Amino acid sequence: MQEALSLARFRVALDGPADFDGWRRAARRLAAERVPGGEVEWSVGGTADAPSSLLDNAHPSAALSVPREFVTRAETVICHSDPERFAFLYRMLLRIVAEPNLMKIASDPDVRRFEAMEKSVRRDTHKMRAFVRFRRIGAEETERYVAWFEPDHFIVERNAPFFVRRFTGMRWTILTPYASADWDGERLAIGPGASKTDAPPDDGAEDLWRTYFRSIFNPARLKVKAMQAEMPKKYWRNLPEASLISGMIAGAEDAAREMIEKMPTTPAPHHAKVQARHWPAPQPDDRKGDGAEATTLEELREAAKGCRRCPLWREATQTVFGEGPGAARVVFVGEQPGDQEDIAGRPFVGPAGKLFDAVLDEAELDRRLTYVTNAVKHFKFEPRGKRRIHSKPNAGEISACRWWLDKELALIRPELVVALGATAAQSLLGKAVPITRMRGEVIERADGLKIFLTVHPSFLLRIPDARDKAAEHERFLADIRAVKQLMAA
Ligand code: URA
Repeated sequence: MQEALSLARFRVALDGPADFDGWRRAARRLAAERVPGGEVEWSVGGTADAPSSLLDNAHPSAALSVPREFVTRAETVICHSDPERFAFLYRMLLRIVAEPNLMKIASDPDVRRFEAMEKSVRRDTHKMRAFVRFRRIGAEETERYVAWFEPDHFIVERNAPFFVRRFTGMRWTILTPYASADWDGERLAIGPGASKTDAPPDDGAEDLWRTYFRSIFNPARLKVKAMQAEMPKKYWRNLPEASLISGMIAGAEDAAREMIEKMPTTPAPHHAKVQARHWPAPQPDDRKGDGAEATTLEELREAAKGCRRCPLWREATQTVFGEGPGAARVVFVGEQPGDQEDIAGRPFVGPAGKLFDAVLDEAELDRRLTYVTNAVKHFKFEPRGKRRIHSKPNAGEISACRWWLDKELALIRPELVVALGATAAQSLLGKAVPITRMRGEVIERADGLKIFLTVHPSFLLRIPDARDKAAEHERFLADIRAVKQLMAA
């Protein structure tokens, strides 16, 4: 932020379209001097002349007392695309200094305008979170995800931390006409804007979004107006699933009728316990079969897509099947896919997967030579706000999904299976075992299969103390090195 005096007017050049800190510094000093709004010109970028006396700290900005609520809300309002926003906020600031209760006067035209701008930015922020669609480019090491989005307001900087939290384990870039956000797995960088042609075209990942969208679409609840309000047409052209909307709206009545006919009677909550004790007979999606006849991993994977053996398929995006060569000598078994695995359809690609990869690298064990899978193949979670929080699978779900794990192991016939954590061990051994006490041990099952026990990588992610974490990392690394040695034996 630079400020300069020019012909009895103050010109403030801000660093960016949503440079709140720059605006705030300048506005506080100008307001402390009671400089009228009409004498200040605000712009983005550009250069200013020599600093004015307002910059010499002669009037410490602390002299100005402004309600915290205004400051917090102004930080949102400044993201609005209205070119007058800086001047408007400055006018509000001057008024608030004179009338500290201004924000409580709901009928005041400035307050109403402030609220409308704030609401619009919030809505745009929410839309960006809901409608950014990443497209995968590159493969393996170079793999990254790129999305194109056209926000109404200057919200990229404000929204980027959300995407970092949501997609920590992926490398991604979001391009917009005015700015871009790039996450390389460790560092967030905000860069210049781009054009739509900089974003990659359609790819395989789009099919996944369409599948997901179709699976969450409930025609019986369809309210076209509300749907269009939530997903305004403006966003449709960047959404892979948008191609399905008109067809689904058109067929909604039939689809709703069919759906109601097929709908099971929802059991009372306590039935879950009864169900867990007397798990119902397998009920595969008939179109795909139950995998009993599968002679290859590919056939088995295909069958698992229609798995209905336990209720977890209902809320999950898709079955996350194992991955790796059919002749792998070692199979790693985790607990269940997490949030990112559920979206990507691949095991161990999120934060725990990244840690797992790093330790395998350190142990010089090539993941591509191993088969990696989970005891439970659907993501189990609790929705909390917009987040999906991992929830541990219960004994019934573990035992229902063992059908697939047993078949994977029967087809691969590995020399060693590594149970990553308690759920995997329970599935592989048919009973709960104390992992922390037994880690590093190899247990031979009645059928001769050798099971190596160790902790789950997400256990390391949850350790808050850096020294403890480093120590556990070493222990996990030692376990993986032991696995490598057993493979070589
Ligand atoms: N945790 C698991 O157990 N499996 C995954 O695939 C990811 C996280």
